[in-house]
Amino acid sequence: MDKKQLAGEAAVKYVEDGMVIGLGTGSTVYYALLKLGERVAEGLRIQGIPTSEATAELANRLHIPLTTFAQNPRLDLTIDGADSVTPDFHLIKGGGGALLREKLVAAASDRLIVIVDDSKLAQTFEGVSIPVEVVPFAWETTAARLAEIGGRWTLRMKDGKPFVTDNHNYILDTVFDRIPSVPDLESTLKRMIGVVESGLFIGMTSTLIVGYVDGARIVEVPTA
Ligand code: 5RP
Repeated sequence: MDKKQLAGEAAVKYVEDGMVIGLGTGSTVYYALLKLGERVAEGLRIQGIPTSEATAELANRLHIPLTTFAQNPRLDLTIDGADSVTPDFHLIKGGGGALLREKLVAAASDRLIVIVDDSKLAQTFEGVSIPVEVVPFAWETTAARLAEIGGRWTLRMKDGKPFVTDNHNYILDTVFDRIPSVPDLESTLKRMIGVVESGLFIGMTSTLIVGYVDGARIVEVPTA
């Protein structure tokens, strides 16, 4: 079985009847959604909050009932992928451009289950591209601020135009060659004028499920 499929399907075992579930975005979450759709067809009663328009569309096709924060301000758990994970369980997310909704959904969840294949395990985020979602107005000035703190940025493009997120923002994929502290970098980005959100997810992971060729391994993150 595909490594992403092994991780995705393992996560769905945590889903119980009556839960409100955050539905992540990406090719690993795809497998979790397929399995969730199967369980819903067998009678599982859950409601999902999607982290992107793409996930909402897929959930609709799979007949996974959706809900909103107005009806359900707290979620039992969220299943989502990641682009990179350190041994401290810090994440880079946003490869698919859904980082803002992904962070909002994860922050409203009692538990975040992160599903990746083993290619996503990293020792450091130094030299790794970190998506930073920025306001399109004056985005050039935000890019200059990123450069001032050592970020080498690239404006994400799609079909020859700037990529626009579901929340109508741009993404600056930004590489830092030296990151003395990932949490400090996250705080710095958060305070930067023009930055809407960064793809650094710090202290949010509850459970990490890693797909390997021979199966999925599950790591429960100790609570501080
Ligand atoms: C989307 C994300 C995804 O979770 C991340 O990019 C991983 O995707 P995939 O499972 O396709 O590798 O953060 O914004």
